[in-house]
Amino acid sequence: MPDCPGEEARTPMELYEKLNSQGDTVRSLKAAKAEKAEIDSAIQLLLKLKVDYKQMTGQEYKAGCPPSENSVIPDNETAADGVIDEDNVDPWNVSTTNAKGVDYDKLIVRFGSSKIDKELVDRIEKVSGQKAHRFLRRGIFFSHRDMHQVLDAFEKQKSFYLYTGRGPSSQAMHVGHLIPFIFTKWLQDVFDIPLVIQLTDDEKYLWKDLTLEDCHRFAVENAKDIIACGFDVNKTFIFSDLDYMGASPEFYRNVVKIQKHVTFNQVKGIFGFTDSDCIGKISFPAIQAAPSFSSSFSQIFGGRKDVQCLIPCAIDQDPYFRMTRDVAPRIGYPKPALLHSTFFPALQGAQTKMSASDANSSIFLTDTPKQIKSKVNKHAFSGGKDTIEEHRKHGGNADVDVSFMYLTFFLEDDEQLEKIKQDYTSGALLTGELKKTLIETLQPIISQHQERRKQVTDEMVQQFMTPRPLNFKL
Ligand code: TRP
Repeated sequence: MPDCPGEEARTPMELYEKLNSQGDTVRSLKAAKAEKAEIDSAIQLLLKLKVDYKQMTGQEYKAGCPPSENSVIPDNETAADGVIDEDNVDPWNVSTTNAKGVDYDKLIVRFGSSKIDKELVDRIEKVSGQKAHRFLRRGIFFSHRDMHQVLDAFEKQKSFYLYTGRGPSSQAMHVGHLIPFIFTKWLQDVFDIPLVIQLTDDEKYLWKDLTLEDCHRFAVENAKDIIACGFDVNKTFIFSDLDYMGASPEFYRNVVKIQKHVTFNQVKGIFGFTDSDCIGKISFPAIQAAPSFSSSFSQIFGGRKDVQCLIPCAIDQDPYFRMTRDVAPRIGYPKPALLHSTFFPALQGAQTKMSASDANSSIFLTDTPKQIKSKVNKHAFSGGKDTIEEHRKHGGNADVDVSFMYLTFFLEDDEQLEKIKQDYTSGALLTGELKKTLIETLQPIISQHQERRKQVTDEMVQQFMTPRPLNFKL
């Protein structure tokens, strides 16, 4: 069937392919000496597609030059209803004007990633032999790159490794910070694979008003909270960039290779750097990219450079890995695969994510049961009605209710969650009752975390952070 020009291309790749085929159409019409009017109209369409392409990708269309993964569709496009949509998502900012939070489906289109659909979730269950984690069942990990390829290889006994990280900007971690680690721990368990965790103390030094010593100290402190998530010391390597960069020649060699293959223009386009950003920031993305390649860890992979990497992370980190995936083939390495999560909303509402610098926006891992109770009761944005009478009559709105959103992250029982949603929406369940369920769900999770963290000794941290062989079969 010929390509239907009326159908909207949704991704840069679709548009690129459309342009290719329209180019073919024009050429064959010309070769066949078709009517002038017919050729003209085909050229008109080609020109229109070129303009669309430039608008969507910020790049000129060139045959034989597919759009790079870095061609993100610009923000602030006008939505179909004419409303300017102000989702803002990059490694340093996350905000939206929508109370339901960021429109994640749109983000998939803009970033050119793929949706984690039911089929993929089923497949992960099948290949791992385990019930999917609630983060997968509930769309909290919602987007991916190349996950099918990872599973294909795994089914053929070809294993992979996990890479995730954290920017240690303060001692205080909140529950939102745990999301990628809780999920990564599950992946490590069900696939039985090695894991590297990067603590970017260098990044925080470059971006924040902190000393190198502070950043390094936060890295070690944060490592304790990460270890408390239950990672297997025989399969996990945690490293501070400030320590490991100097200690591992292979790691630094990869950083330099990446630096040689990315231009200032490219990082400006991807990260929005300007001429007045310090050069440390401009070269930093290479350091976050390097752990995506197995040859950066000679003690673990013994010089192998072909072990596939899978990166679970929040979607705001994707710019780093779009860049990484662009460079990988040029320096002879496999592209890392990705699993992206949504953000953990602030107590005040899903317009922004939790922030460690605003005590009232977050539930900290150090909060007491009393603090948890009072924060949820005082600050958690409610989708309930103003009076009990109205609430009983019209019901609440779970889609904007932060307490309900938190339950989707932390309440394990699917049926109970569904019942809460129905009862809240119908008005049978009041906001105070919903909040009580959340408080009772969070309190034990946080106190158990605190218990486990207390058990983490300095020697254990030392062990996790020592470059060494890990225990696994590839
Ligand atoms: N830049 C991330 C942050 O500020 C930390 C990080 C480094 C990371 N490498 C990663 C996060 C890999 C996810 C996956 O939090």
